[in-house]
Amino acid sequence: MGVKFAFFDLNPKESAKELFGREGELDELVHLIKARRWVAVLGPRMVGKTSLIKAANTRLDEMATAIAKYT
Ligand SMILES: Nc1ncnc2c1ncn2[C@@H]1O[C@H](COP(=O)(O)OP(=O)(O)OP(=O)(O)O)[C@@H](O)[C@H]1O
Ligand SMILES: [Mg+2]
Repeated sequence: MGVKFAFFDLNPKESAKELFGREGELDELVHLIKARRWVAVLGPRMVGKTSLIKAANTRLDEMATAIAKYT
């Protein structure tokens, strides 16, 4: 468990709906992972690297579940 404040959460986000303005990066990351490419997510401290990766993981999990459900 990380530190939590009333109005500000320092923990990385876990899903696309919590992420602000990263739809393009999220689509690109998911696409590259599905294509089995090696990807490095680089950027300054606290810019949202971990959040982006966690959101991509969540989306890939959801896709895997969807594929399992509909095939
Ligand atoms: N696109 C975003 N929308 C909403 N909140 C965000 C976004 N990007 C980052 N945050 C918030 O900013 C903070 C830092 O995010 P995160 O931990 O993902 O960054 P990081 O680049 O991995 O940081 P570090 O360099 O410390 O590893 C967290 O509170 C996270 O929820
Ligand atoms: Mg991080």
